[in-house]
Amino acid sequence: MKPKKKVLITGNLGYIGSVLSGYLIKKNFIVKGLDVGYFKKCNFNFYKNDKISQSIKDIRDVNFNDLKNVDIVVHLAGLSNDPLGELAKNITNEINYKATVKLANLAKKSGVQRFIFTSSQSIYGISKISKELDEYKSVKNPITQYAKSKMKSEKYLLRINSPKFNVIIFRPSTVFGVSNRFRSDIVFNNLMASGFVKNEITINTDGKPWRPVIHVKDVCNALYAGIVAPSKKVNGQIYNLGIVGGNYTVKQIALNAKKAMNNCKLKIINDHKDPRSYKVSFNKIYKDLKPYYAPKYTLKEGGKEILSFFKKIKFSNIHFKGQKTNRLVRLKYLIETKQINKKLRFNTK
Ligand SMILES: NC(=O)c1ccc[n+]([C@@H]2O[C@H](COP(=O)([O-])OP(=O)(O)OC[C@H]3O[C@@H](n4cnc5c(N)ncnc54)[C@H](O)[C@@H]3O)[C@@H](O)[C@H]2O)c1
Repeated sequence: MKPKKKVLITGNLGYIGSVLSGYLIKKNFIVKGLDVGYFKKCNFNFYKNDKISQSIKDIRDVNFNDLKNVDIVVHLAGLSNDPLGELAKNITNEINYKATVKLANLAKKSGVQRFIFTSSQSIYGISKISKELDEYKSVKNPITQYAKSKMKSEKYLLRINSPKFNVIIFRPSTVFGVSNRFRSDIVFNNLMASGFVKNEITINTDGKPWRPVIHVKDVCNALYAGIVAPSKKVNGQIYNLGIVGGNYTVKQIALNAKKAMNNCKLKIINDHKDPRSYKVSFNKIYKDLKPYYAPKYTLKEGGKEILSFFKKIKFSNIHFKGQKTNRLVRLKYLIETKQINKKLRFNTK
């Protein structure tokens, strides 16, 4: 029998990481987690937490020991959306870019065979919506600090990619679905939460901006595909991560949430412009990662699943607007209560 491979997931105590560790354990990997723990306490305990070896550590302090006997790194850790990245711009660069460089260099020297990186579709910035954006030819126009940090990281990682150290980059659509660390600050989850708590879904724009979305389990499936697909297919490749038919307007996403919420009210306020609108092509990921990548969750299924999660955990307005499900609120709280300092490092007593 082949020995099990060991995967280090950074950011495993976040939204995606809290689903990914169980997913990879089921696929017979040994999983190790490394996370600073900003959201450690934001756990709904909706499903059993995975018992894995856990390092509570800032990614900026990573060292060789963290990579001992590790075969694969899935690097999720970071300040992980546009508003969060604007909180402390220099720190976003430190955590999202410089620490990625450090981790990847250490991983390469330690003999890690694959380094899977989650970038973002934010790097496309404001785009022409008539065309679906592909990975290589489309214009990149990163505007926020978050998007810039992802773009710089991608470039660096592709430079150090080699036949023995395979780099695979994913640019996920906005994620939805249940996780022990559920987020209300992402589009479908947010609209579902609003429908559940207020019996009304509101959109501040005209609802016309395009937003590709993907279920969290399909993200896990893609990351797994990146681990097991043959090296000659995936080495040094970038993939838009999404699902065929996964390009929706915000209004279409809201209509799905409304349906899932037994036709609650939907209000389109239209007093706010959102310049971010993009449609993305997913041809490459289907072509290269077949048969390993086989996404299957629609908004309809995601809606049903989120509704039963809300009922079970008695999801309330405190959850909807509070630190447990909103990353910016959580980090601001940790700063205000002096648990972390301006460099977003935990204060030691
Ligand atoms: N969720 C989405 O819609 C989405 C879309 C595109 C890309 N992504 C990318 O996927 C990755 C995971 O996203 P997520 O939604 O799970 O984010 P998340 O914010 O829920 O989780 C990120 C995790 O990283 C950890 N972290 C942050 N700074 C750290 C540091 N200095 N040291 C160690 N750990 C640190 C946090 O504690 C957190 O647990 C991110 O890189 C994000 O940019 C997410």
